[in-house]
Amino acid sequence: MVTGGCGFIGSNFIQYLLRQGDFTGRIINVDKLTYAGNPDNLDGIEKNNPDRYLFEKADICDLGLMEDIFSRYAIDATCHFAAESHVDRSIKDPGAFIYTNIVGTFNLLEAARSHAGDFILFHHISTDEVYGSLGKEGLFKETTPYQPNSPYSAAKASSDHLVRAYNKTYGLPVTVSNCSNNYGPYQFPEKLIPLITLNAKEGEKLPVYGDGRNVRDWLYVEDHCNAIWTIMKSGRRGETYNIGGNMEMENIVIVEMICDILDELSPVSSGKNDHRRNLITFVKDRPGHDRRYAIDFTKLQSELNWSPQESFESGIRKTISWYLENSEWVRRVRNNEYQSWMSEQYKL
Ligand code: NAD
Ligand code: TYD
Repeated sequence: MVTGGCGFIGSNFIQYLLRQGDFTGRIINVDKLTYAGNPDNLDGIEKNNPDRYLFEKADICDLGLMEDIFSRYAIDATCHFAAESHVDRSIKDPGAFIYTNIVGTFNLLEAARSHAGDFILFHHISTDEVYGSLGKEGLFKETTPYQPNSPYSAAKASSDHLVRAYNKTYGLPVTVSNCSNNYGPYQFPEKLIPLITLNAKEGEKLPVYGDGRNVRDWLYVEDHCNAIWTIMKSGRRGETYNIGGNMEMENIVIVEMICDILDELSPVSSGKNDHRRNLITFVKDRPGHDRRYAIDFTKLQSELNWSPQESFESGIRKTISWYLENSEWVRRVRNNEYQSWMSEQYKL
């Protein structure tokens, strides 16, 4: 079972898994299809894999339904992505984050526990944001105390604790991964990289929060998928693994990079915004904005021999090209809900 398989990382993971020679199972994708869940992300997958892929539209907050799905399909492993994932939305409206991220995870753990006999693994996907914010120095390790600062990261932290507790208390076989910021194809354009790419392409303003000097560690989504599959196959049960890209970048540097690559790939013919950097607009900072994230993934590297393969320079070019080439996907994603979120959030 993959939960949240129609979202950004989940859909990349399903496509990745179906390409792996050492995966012979069947995938049941359980997704509620919120604003962030997009069946277009898996276009053709069902048709091309009729015996290996099934979709169940379902809300993980419905315990009865989760029990039913576990029984009907004899689920033996879960890779749990489903979540409300956007920090800004969690600041505006935290309720859904509490239900989906905490109660939803609890329901899946309960369903897995009641099928304990057949159950091999509950892999929980989490974020480095649970560790809070770093100063100029230091890295998040698996042993760093949790100090979440947003409703999003607090809800994810809570779910991480529940997963750990089900292992310690009931012996449920679990693994947890805490990953840094992902980027790549199929990311919903409310997050920094796709939002800036599409606004810059259209000649719209590019909102940069605060002074733009906040630092994130970036990982290409396929590297994340590879790390997850590695942990699912070989990670020690009951353990947490940090995943990162060794790619710390200030937001403003990324925004400028996107502008320059777009100027090269898709030059503006004339007018005052022929250099897209002119569109950069510093806006009011996010409340509780974490200053810096950086990941120490030595444990994953030394125990399971994983390291990221994509450089940021090549990954960002691939990503920008993908958004340029997939204008129909972009058109469908930028629907009424998206337009109203954007105009409410960015009164530029
Ligand atoms: P996303 O917002 O793109 O996708 C979330 C998916 O979950 C959507 O398909 C949505 O329909 C589904 N979903 C939401 N609520 C649901 C519910 N109640 N029942 C069933 N399905 C529901 O998110 P993403 O960026 O792909 O993130 C996936 C996971 O990875 C999340 O758990 C997130 O915390 C974690 N993560 C994300 C990043 C990142 O940079 N995007 C980094 C580290 C960890
Ligand atoms: P985001 O993609 O929302 O991921 P997260 O908050 O989970 O790290 O934001 C990445 C960084 O970019 C974060 O420091 C906030 C900043 N940001 C902007 O400056 N402008 C924007 O429009 C967005 C969405 C984010």
